[in-house]
Amino acid sequence: MRTSRAVPADELRQILAGTGAVVRSAVPLAELTTLRVGGRATVADCGTTAALVATVQALDTAAIPVLLVAGGSNLLVSDEDVASVVVRVVTEGVEFGADSVTAEAGANWDDVVAKSVRAGFGGLECLSGIPGSAGATPVQNVGAYGVEVANLLRRVQLLDRATGDIHWAGPDELAFGYRTSRLKHRDDAVVLAVEFALHPDGTSAPLRYGELAQRLDATEGETRPAAVVRETVLGLRAGKGMVLDPADHDTWSAGSFFTNPVVPDGEVDRVRAAIRDRLGEVSVPTYPGTGGVKFSAGWLIERAGFAKGFPGAEAPARLSTKHTLALTNRGAATAADIVALARTVRDGVAERFGVVLVPEPVTVGVEL
Ligand code: EPU
Repeated sequence: MRTSRAVPADELRQILAGTGAVVRSAVPLAELTTLRVGGRATVADCGTTAALVATVQALDTAAIPVLLVAGGSNLLVSDEDVASVVVRVVTEGVEFGADSVTAEAGANWDDVVAKSVRAGFGGLECLSGIPGSAGATPVQNVGAYGVEVANLLRRVQLLDRATGDIHWAGPDELAFGYRTSRLKHRDDAVVLAVEFALHPDGTSAPLRYGELAQRLDATEGETRPAAVVRETVLGLRAGKGMVLDPADHDTWSAGSFFTNPVVPDGEVDRVRAAIRDRLGEVSVPTYPGTGGVKFSAGWLIERAGFAKGFPGAEAPARLSTKHTLALTNRGAATAADIVALARTVRDGVAERFGVVLVPEPVTVGVEL
């Protein structure tokens, strides 16, 4: 595989002739990611699923490394130029069935949710306001406010890059877990489309998240009209800086930068003791996790001494002033600034509480 240098745009145009992709050279990836950092790359924009399939196959045949980018909301790209060709998924088709929605991979996720709610369907409303594309949602089993993709996904259409086979896979084939799936950190399959089951009566999924249920004056497990839940979720997220707004640097982020750590059962007492040593008797927010207890990364970060806005107003990369779990670009940050901040936070939490936070975004050309 060629990795050392970027393929010249002219050569690439020849390789991709007839695929339907539009090739652009020296595109700053800072323009294609929500963290707004990243060096330049040659980009092949694919506006149809056929173009996406043909482009990936042509690049694979020519042994040219590929970086798939859609919404760019879960990516931390190095400041250096990227040698891989960025295959940009800009498909956008969305279609409704009697009790389902099917979206092409590049469709903006929040448009899919908004259109579903507007068309009178419930189910996806808790996943309102999440940046990124529909096709990315199964990869990391996107979740918020008590609902995750694994609960609602009916099937996902995949291109198998080794065989060229295109097929639909059900949730049972995707090994979903908290913020993970069989598709995460692998690139042997490309998501082409997703299909979600919806409630045709327009009621929401049962409310499972305390903070959301409270805002809606509901008991956990009750439902509300999907449109009402969507508005409430958008309000909650905006209050945490988790709805993209170009004018608000608190939203120049990759959402939660770390996952909430699931501490194995055998280590929970040790972590609780470390918290007690530092903070005394405090109530610690935790949730049930698979094989252990899920702690709140935002809480641990804040209690480790990294307040909202850390390290202060002059820094190019800071924790969001609204939520400690979002690392943000204040306008002039580089990938190196984000990485340095991530290391400081991760190491501080590890030192104080003995919990090693794991980053959620996919990193390209950088390592923590
Ligand atoms: N907290 C703090 N300080 C903060 C923020 C939060 O101490 O600055 C503590 C509070 O105790 C709060 C608790 O953390 O009660 C949980 O905070 P929040 O409700 O905001 O949820 P989260 O666990 O931080 C997760 C997801 C979010 C999702 C929300 C709502 C992960 C890594 N993050 O955040 O997803 O929107 O729950 O369901 O699981 C994302 O993945 O990008 C994302 C935004």
